[in-house]
Amino acid sequence: MQDDPDQTADTDDRHPSGAPWRNFYGRFRGKTIRASQQDYLENDLDALSPGPVGWDVNPDRKALDPAAIFGGKPVWLEIGFGGGEHLIGMAQRYPEVGIVGCEPFINGVAMLLGKIRRAGVANLAVHPGDARDLFDVLPDGCVHKAFLNYPDPWFKNRHHRRRFVTQEHLIPLFRVLAPGAEFRVATDIPDYVRQTLAEVPKAGFVLETPLPTGMAEPWDDWVRTRYEQKALREGRYPHYLTFRKPG
Ligand SMILES: C[S@@+](CC[C@H](N)C(=O)[O-])C[C@H]1O[C@@H](n2cnc3c(N)ncnc32)[C@H](O)[C@@H]1O
Repeated sequence: MQDDPDQTADTDDRHPSGAPWRNFYGRFRGKTIRASQQDYLENDLDALSPGPVGWDVNPDRKALDPAAIFGGKPVWLEIGFGGGEHLIGMAQRYPEVGIVGCEPFINGVAMLLGKIRRAGVANLAVHPGDARDLFDVLPDGCVHKAFLNYPDPWFKNRHHRRRFVTQEHLIPLFRVLAPGAEFRVATDIPDYVRQTLAEVPKAGFVLETPLPTGMAEPWDDWVRTRYEQKALREGRYPHYLTFRKPG
């Protein structure tokens, strides 16, 4: 049964190590990693750690101290940063904030690390893994803004439950956000907009974007990502949604 991910997605089995049985349907690694990227991963990644997040290094799920990560700066979070275009752009624009990015796809992490070297920003931390593992170890109300840009679309109806905008992800996200915090979602998939509008408020968030026209307007500080560029090339339209955790 565990060979069929669809059969296990909604179970609450526990891994023998004590970790929840968290299915992940994306990719952890591409076919090749360039030598320069391997160098970034070997030499830069550890120093950017937000602290012990993984079950292997933090089996008791001891909470991180977010104030210690960035010396007391407000903390923002980007989920699934891909190649890191938006993450690095926001870090450059807002040096007074510290941003934690999480991304399980190691090639994307390596791309971000290259950008960090070139940009020389000092207000980023990187969790090279699943956002759910990070949520486990973040205290309540410690994140002041969160970004979800072009989450994996999972087009088939029976795969919609794999989407990030499901309660499995949204409830812990809501918990770690501070009262009044903003949660931004960008997607080019109309059915993803539908599910986002249905599921995100169920977790407690309030929609701020005026529908339907507001969805077409990017945020003033928006940084276009690789997936947005791809969407535009292929004739799909971006949708931008802003939610807020009530203050
Ligand atoms: C379609 S890509 C978009 C990447 C980037 N945000 C962009 O706009 O170019 C979605 C990304 O989300 C990541 N992802 C999927 N599930 C995740 C999870 N549970 N936690 C963190 N990232 C996740 C994937 O690895 C992938 O890189």
